[in-house]
This record gives sequence, C-alpha cells and structure tokens, in this order.
Amino acid sequence: MRSTKDQTSSQAMKQAAARAALHYVVEGRIVGVGTGSTASLFIDELAGVKNRVAGAVASSEDTKKRLEGHGIEVFDLNEITDLPVYIDGADEITPAMHMIKGGGGALTREKIVSAVAGKFVCIVDGTKLVDTLGHFALPVEVIPMASTYVAREIAKLGGVAVARAGFVTDNGNLILDVNGLRILDPVDLETRLNQIAGVVTNGLFARRPADVCLIGTPDGVRTMTAAL
Ligand code: 5RP
Repeated sequence: MRSTKDQTSSQAMKQAAARAALHYVVEGRIVGVGTGSTASLFIDELAGVKNRVAGAVASSEDTKKRLEGHGIEVFDLNEITDLPVYIDGADEITPAMHMIKGGGGALTREKIVSAVAGKFVCIVDGTKLVDTLGHFALPVEVIPMASTYVAREIAKLGGVAVARAGFVTDNGNLILDVNGLRILDPVDLETRLNQIAGVVTNGLFARRPADVCLIGTPDGVRTMTAAL
C-alpha cells in the first residue's frame, strides 16, 4: 500500500505535468481532453486560460462535466474535422511511447479522440514509466453479451480476464481487466485483441502511440519523445 507521502508526491508530479501541457494547447483552437485524475488536473489548469481556446472535445462524460463546470464549451467530435492536440494521462508508458490506458474505463472514446488528433501529449507522474507494458491489468471494453466468450479467447493468448465489478462504460459496455499477458509486441497484441468478436477496443495505445510525454518527477517535468 502506498503511503500518504507517496500519494502526495505523485499528485504533485501529476500536477506539474498537467501544468506543463498548457504549452501544447494551440491558441484559438479546440483541444482534445482525456479522462482520469491527471486529465482532471489538466482541465483545472486549462480553466485558467480558457479564453485562449475555442473549446474542447471530451473523451468521457466525466470530462465533459468537468469542462462545462469551468465554462469551457464542449464540442461533439462529429462537429469538427481538425483537432491539433489531445492531452491525456496513461496507466503505463514505455520509452517507445506505447501505453496502457483505460484504468478509468474511458479507453474507447480516448482512442477515438486521440485518433483524430494531430498530436497526442501524454501527462503522467514518473511511476507510470515502464520498460515493458503489462504490470497494470490491460482493460478491454466488450459488448456485454460477448464477455465470457472474449474472456475465453483472451485465455488462449495467456491472459486472465476479470469483469470490472459494477462498472458500465459511457458506451453501455463492460470492461474486462486482463492480467498475465506478456506484452512484448504491443502493436501486434493491440491488433489481435481487437480481432476478437465482441471486443470494442482494448487499452493498448501502440498503433497510435503518444507523440510527447510530459513526466512529472521529483526534479521537475521531463519531456520524452519517441526515439527516431
Ligand atoms: C482513463 C485513462 C487514464 O488516462 C489512466 O487511467 C490514468 O489515470 P490517472 O491520471 O488517474 O492516473 O486511461 O480511462
């Protein structure tokens, strides 16, 4: 169990990364906004400069509410054709900028909004940086009637899938949290999981990785970009 001191410093590191992300917001344009505690800190920072943006696109109902609570206009993704930047947290990220996301269950909308965005800016505290993905259980959003079938198919890949208790996504679906997968090739696994009938999407963000990662550390915010 993490101590209160660890949690405080993790919060401070998330806050620093969230604040640094303001630098990537494009003046006069719409910004894509993710979901989770770090994204919420970003929304609170964005509120301070809200007159500099045209509005936002939200990756979840929670994010939409928080943005609107700050008086930031929220656009439907279908209303816009061009989104310069998407800012969101992650549960794990590697130096190759591959991520596990979906701890908050918003992975599908996050994947959609990030697919539209020109640039994905990931904001995390230093504990999220890993060499290999998979310590954090991989979330998979599934159509409810397919959940046990999908769990059996995931078992064939070596994963143990457990339905997230009492949780329904914004899209009316279930989340399976998958442990035990060795994620050595995130792009391949993301593709394979999405081929299982009944899977809406999975929390691997490798086919569309982050472009920039702002990592809050005890020594300040470190900027990581994918090695060429
Ligand atoms: C939500 C997500 C979040 O970005 C991820 O879970 C990280 O959350 P937090 O910033 O609270 O650590 O993918 O679906």
